[in-house]
Amino acid sequence: MAKRREMMSFRMSVLFSGILIVFLHRFGGLVRGEVGQDFSKCLDFFFERTPPKGFDAAGYQPICQRYKNQYHFASLYHRQHRVPVYSAYILRPADGKRPSSTWMYEPQLAFSRADPEMKPFRSTVDQNVIESQAVLEDYKKSNYTRGHLNPSMHQGTKENREATFTLTNIVPQRAGSNSGPWNKFENEVLKRFKNVCRGQMFVVTGALPYVSGTHWINNRVVIPEYMWSAYCCPSYNASLSASVFFPTYAAMGRNDPNSEEDIVPINVKAKRSVWGYDVRQMSVEALEGILTKRLAMPISLFHDHCQ
Ligand SMILES: *[C@@H]1O[C@H](CO)[C@@H](O)[C@H](O)[C@H]1NC(C)=O
Ligand SMILES: *[C@@H]1O[C@H](CO)[C@@H](O)[C@H](O)[C@H]1NC(C)=O
Repeated sequence: MAKRREMMSFRMSVLFSGILIVFLHRFGGLVRGEVGQDFSKCLDFFFERTPPKGFDAAGYQPICQRYKNQYHFASLYHRQHRVPVYSAYILRPADGKRPSSTWMYEPQLAFSRADPEMKPFRSTVDQNVIESQAVLEDYKKSNYTRGHLNPSMHQGTKENREATFTLTNIVPQRAGSNSGPWNKFENEVLKRFKNVCRGQMFVVTGALPYVSGTHWINNRVVIPEYMWSAYCCPSYNASLSASVFFPTYAAMGRNDPNSEEDIVPINVKAKRSVWGYDVRQMSVEALEGILTKRLAMPISLFHDHCQ
């Protein structure tokens, strides 16, 4: 009798472990799907709900940037480089000032089951967070500023703007670029949006690493050689002279005065503080050509060329 009961309980436990294994397998798969294998929860930030094509490498991690219970924009994160490849957003002129910056990190990069909301850095930072992404310490004494890909002044509400202060939207950018020609270009895009665009403007802004050599801050975070940006506004006022920059236009900006001049030439008459940080505006096709060559990936930024 006792033996039979033992046998029964053995069989039950075998059956139960089987169920448990199947359950864990399924559940594990589901959980991984939740944390961003793709941009399915934030496709609204892409023209025609279609993310740029061609960016495809191991370690590229889509992030739907979530803050205060809302999605604000999308970023493709490069895990090994600890910087975004690009951020994609809908441009909305700011309805107020630049917020005081509370810098945040992305818990999901450290723990796949973590809360999908970005979180402010605390005084002690978990080791898993440090390993999985850039932290404030990386930028200290680096001689690089924290350059926004999605700049806060391209975001409408206070919460939209606060959400741009996540280090997953930030690359090491020289002050000469960040507060010089690149900032001027961002302001010009804003002006074009207000004056010429008559619908939504979709923007994709990224950072291009050097082809070779080690360019890191704190031996951890990759420094880009160039900033790049492109916008798509299919509905615009064609009777204005600035409509030549529509429906799409793009730019690349230097982040290093020592770079060759084949991509962006240097204005030799520029002021010393911004010397070598020029921005060259170009068609989206020209930008895609440069990205395709440099990344060795067939890049297409907007669905059907923003038609
Ligand atoms: C930052 O710049 C200063 C002055 O040019 C230099 O002495 C220092 O080594 C630089 N720091 C780093 C981390 O590159
Ligand atoms: C387009 O610009 C022209 C010239 O400034 C202006 O008269 C017209 O009202 C504008 N159209 C729209 C739809 O904004």
